[in-house]
Amino acid sequence: MSTTDDLTRADAAAADPAAPPQAAEEVVVLDYGGQYSQLIARRVRECGVFSELLPHHVGAAEVARRRPRGLILSGGPASVYAPDAPRLDPALLDLGIPVLGICYGMQLLTRELGGEVQGAEVGEFGRSQLTVKEPGRLLAGLPAEQTCWMSHRDTVFAPPPGFTALASSSESPVAALESVERGIYGIQFHPEVVHTPYGQDILTRFLEDVCGCERTWSAGSVIEDQIARIRTQVGDGRVICGLSGGVDSSVAALLVHRAIGDQLTCVFVDHGLMRKNEGDQVIAAFRDHFKVPLVAVDAEDRFLTKLKGVTEPEAKRKAIGEEFIRVFEEEAAKLVGETGGGARFLVQGTLYSDVIESGGGTGAATIKSHHNVGGLPEDLEFELVEPLRALFKDEVRAVGAELGLPERLVWRQPFPGPGLAIRVVGGEATKQRLDTLRDADAILQDEIRRAGLYRELWQSFCVLPDVRTVGVQGDERTYGYVVVIRAVTSDDAMTADWARLPYDLLEQIASRMINEIREVNRVVLDITSKPPGTIEWE
Ligand code: XMP
Repeated sequence: MSTTDDLTRADAAAADPAAPPQAAEEVVVLDYGGQYSQLIARRVRECGVFSELLPHHVGAAEVARRRPRGLILSGGPASVYAPDAPRLDPALLDLGIPVLGICYGMQLLTRELGGEVQGAEVGEFGRSQLTVKEPGRLLAGLPAEQTCWMSHRDTVFAPPPGFTALASSSESPVAALESVERGIYGIQFHPEVVHTPYGQDILTRFLEDVCGCERTWSAGSVIEDQIARIRTQVGDGRVICGLSGGVDSSVAALLVHRAIGDQLTCVFVDHGLMRKNEGDQVIAAFRDHFKVPLVAVDAEDRFLTKLKGVTEPEAKRKAIGEEFIRVFEEEAAKLVGETGGGARFLVQGTLYSDVIESGGGTGAATIKSHHNVGGLPEDLEFELVEPLRALFKDEVRAVGAELGLPERLVWRQPFPGPGLAIRVVGGEATKQRLDTLRDADAILQDEIRRAGLYRELWQSFCVLPDVRTVGVQGDERTYGYVVVIRAVTSDDAMTADWARLPYDLLEQIASRMINEIREVNRVVLDITSKPPGTIEWE
């Protein structure tokens, strides 16, 4: 990329804090609605090339503005023949950059350029055997027979004139095609999913050999870029960050602190609904270790008072959300008062997936802000600082690790804003019940970590129903609480499967809970997936 290009991007970035990072090389993925579109961008980044996912309708000018090294057209659910199917803007093919169409993307290219796409009688879903007849440039050096992942009904029967058909599968006469001359490539299968073992090699070939990328990008390389942007954005203004203990707000806070030091103050509202020792860990990491100015508000009594007599899940959420805002606003007002007002900025741990879901990555104007600080109202008069808005979750973890964030915070499982209150189910979240739940949860976490399973699980936690059952311990009849173990695997919390924890581990957990927690005399395991269940019980 030329110096002029760099200047253009740098100028754009300085003017707009929401502009994409200044990666030396970028590949744009156009999203035609496929379920794996985000994954394509993630895989490209894993190959060392910055990638953005843009809606398919952004148009060639918007793509050109980014000066990408290449363009990938994603899969999508439509048939290219459906009247309202997303179309290919032919101007995209005149940008002078290589194009790779995946699944629907390949069908669009084929149709646009005069090849033959037809609705097949039989679809091809799941694993398929790919036979490479002519490796060409895209599949060079890869095995002639390989497994790939397919998900399509329309099928390419003939490539456009001037193109070479490279491979086929049982249901796809043309499963890969290319025209090296025109710089246009297509594959019917999904290289981005793990079920295509050579998928990452194919993407690498496209990025390196076809697009000429040097592959030097890494999540860590955004650190310096973000530090410069944060400085430009806030100048000498005061900045506030609500810390929740989760990885997003933690990494966002650390990055901002790196950039502007003590102009940042973090506010940690301990609502008394956290896990055991979690508040102390946050305080130890930020105040003691990183020396970040931190206001820790012990608001347990306030929250418990608000939760008195509240049993209905949504009422609990509302009570907690409202109180959170009140406490946060009070602390923010104190800070602003202390510093004599002036510019006020609020750090939010908005991630790239939030940006995409809110309508695309093209600029602040089109994007609604997500409420990552446990639900702050829209009328808080802060300008947002969002240093993670170009990153996916796993990249945020990588940045956190690079900034020295403790492993425990980097890898923390998601934890709901209303905390343990929505895990004391069917009744009021009293101090006593919360403490019982907290103790049970601590045992579960301890054993799961000791078994080396913590990172494999999306979430693992306990639920305390308002139910007591009869038991016998020693020679005594007991009447104690039931603890539910809930552990799930998931990619995104939209769906989840109950985790098959080893029996021996379950036995160890149950026996510790019953022996160590007086109030508990029974432990059960939740074996419901999502759907039909939700992950949380309330
Ligand atoms: P469900 O229970 O709907 O949860 O399957 C999906 C994911 O969302 C989390 N969750 C919440 N997070 N505030 C939050 O910040 C909430 O009120 C809330 N309710 C559920 C849940 O832990 C899971 O990760």
